[in-house]
Amino acid sequence: MVREIVTYPAEVLTKPTEKVDCVDREIERLVKDMFETMYHAEGVGLAANQIGVPLSVMVIDTSPKEDAPDLKLVLINPEIVSSEGRIKYKEGCLSFPGLSVEVERARKVRVKALNEHGEPVELELEDFPAIVFQHELDHLQGITFIDRLKGWRRRMALEKYRKLQREAQKV
Ligand code: NI
Repeated sequence: MVREIVTYPAEVLTKPTEKVDCVDREIERLVKDMFETMYHAEGVGLAANQIGVPLSVMVIDTSPKEDAPDLKLVLINPEIVSSEGRIKYKEGCLSFPGLSVEVERARKVRVKALNEHGEPVELELEDFPAIVFQHELDHLQGITFIDRLKGWRRRMALEKYRKLQREAQKV
């Protein structure tokens, strides 16, 4: 089922999510809905709190991006084990329709999580998949991409977003 995507400044986007104790049928259904919602919105990553569910679950599918690997992931209770390098990328976010901002993140991350079957997995992501992962991990921790900006860059991004929202309301 395609769910409604929560947009900033909804409170659920600014609070850390809870860890999943048990990967059960309910989580299975949540993951299915998250993929459907993400594909419907033409996104490449989605965090559970973006559909209003405050649990540590993310889905990623980077295959629509031409120069990225065909990678489809479900990560539950994800954590970064180690990271290296830096990379800047102009990111978008389904919770900030129309806004894109350049964010600097680690270029390579080693990640620990549970998969959709509740099994522990460890994997290494680099470049675009690493960027998407870190963006979604931030969501799960109650951090949005504008929180990665400082000073006037952050103020300008917020101002631009408010303007986009006002324009969207007029239509
Ligand atoms: Ni986002």
